[in-house]
Amino acid sequence: MTGQQSCERGGFGSRVGFVLAAAGSAIGLGNVWRFPYTAGQHGGAAFVLIYLVCVAAICVPVLFAELAIGRATRRNPVGAFKALAPGSRWFVVGGLGVLTGFAILAFYSVVAGWTLGYLGKALLGAFAEPLTHEQSVAMFEQIEGAGIVPVLLTGAFLLLTALVVRGGVEAGIERAAKILMPIFFLLLVAMAIRAMTLEGAGEGISFFLKPDLSKIDGGVFMGALGQAFFSLSLGMGAMITYGSYLGANERMPGAAVSVAVADTTIAVLAGLIIFPTLFAAGGDPSAGPGLVFVTLPTVFGKLPAGFLFAIAFYSLLVIAALTSTVSLLEVVVCYFVDERGWKRERATWLVTLGCFLLAIPSALSGTFLDWQSIIFGNYALTIGAMLICLFVGWVWGVPAAVEEIGRGGAVFPLAAAWGVIVRWVAPVAIAAVLIYIVATGNYM
Ligand code: PFF
Repeated sequence: MTGQQSCERGGFGSRVGFVLAAAGSAIGLGNVWRFPYTAGQHGGAAFVLIYLVCVAAICVPVLFAELAIGRATRRNPVGAFKALAPGSRWFVVGGLGVLTGFAILAFYSVVAGWTLGYLGKALLGAFAEPLTHEQSVAMFEQIEGAGIVPVLLTGAFLLLTALVVRGGVEAGIERAAKILMPIFFLLLVAMAIRAMTLEGAGEGISFFLKPDLSKIDGGVFMGALGQAFFSLSLGMGAMITYGSYLGANERMPGAAVSVAVADTTIAVLAGLIIFPTLFAAGGDPSAGPGLVFVTLPTVFGKLPAGFLFAIAFYSLLVIAALTSTVSLLEVVVCYFVDERGWKRERATWLVTLGCFLLAIPSALSGTFLDWQSIIFGNYALTIGAMLICLFVGWVWGVPAAVEEIGRGGAVFPLAAAWGVIVRWVAPVAIAAVLIYIVATGNYM
């Protein structure tokens, strides 16, 4: 039991509150980097539509399920399954989550390293003048394609993450985020307004908001579902961990919905910046993981005090990414502390080192990064979420979970619908998408 204590309460004081920690985990590069490029690869608005449906109909219910497991057990993902289904093999689902978290951190930190590189460029004044699309592509090459540079930036970001997790100063980080994230939001609104008023922006706005329903296929569903789980930090147990931050008297449904709304709003705002800017500058929406990094520099020079704007934007993006990498590392470290009895310090450094080694191929090769992102970011999280639904729906049981969700006097008017979703709708829908993907062989 002492091991658990050191994990659950080692970093966050219970006063920090669930919404901050969970929103910090959810909002990150998934919203600003991954959502726009994935939408761009899957035809734009049609993807956005399916994404919103997935968030509301499947992901929010899964968020409730994870939080309920977390609050009921107050343990790491592996320990939580062991506690609710003693003697069974369900803990393997928790183990899959821990492994997935490790693998996600290994490519996420590469992209977070790029943002550090861009912050450095911004501080050196690289965005004072408007850049053309070609100049911006060349700048991305200097960071992403420069051999040792991205490896060092990845290492630097992992080091930052490890220092936070080891020192248990998450509470400080989350409190800072409480002030900084609203500023980030306002900055994004200002950038979206500028982007949407650029000459030639209209085409970008329609690409992002006017769905062409004929573009919807199984690949769009898979992409949207995976991205929605990724963005809300679901399917690997991060929200199981954060469920333990919800006090018994706090109302879960409202808190969970706030997190989902905040996360989705930021993603949509990012799209409203990227696509108008991209179409105005003449880029390709299906460019992949480099999309956002190549697109944004062309807009800073067109903003008032663009140079300061760029510094503020990349600083805040680094912090948003840090609150997400902290949650990823925390899940893995927590597992080693709780289940394996490691010291927190040792667990933090060994996991970080392992992660760095796994990150090197992604730092050197965009193709490797892309595959990591698809295998772990999409498939592993989606399969994890399906198993979590099956567990809550059929093993732990809907009545016990509903009781947990309603604890603290919360009203949960949609309890009956939620039960049907976790038992039937979500697992069947996810399985159908996976079967379709395997049958058509269209894995991207
Ligand atoms: N939700 C984070 C983002 O959108 O940037 C990424 C992430 C964090 C995924 C934590 C999964 C996780 F457990």
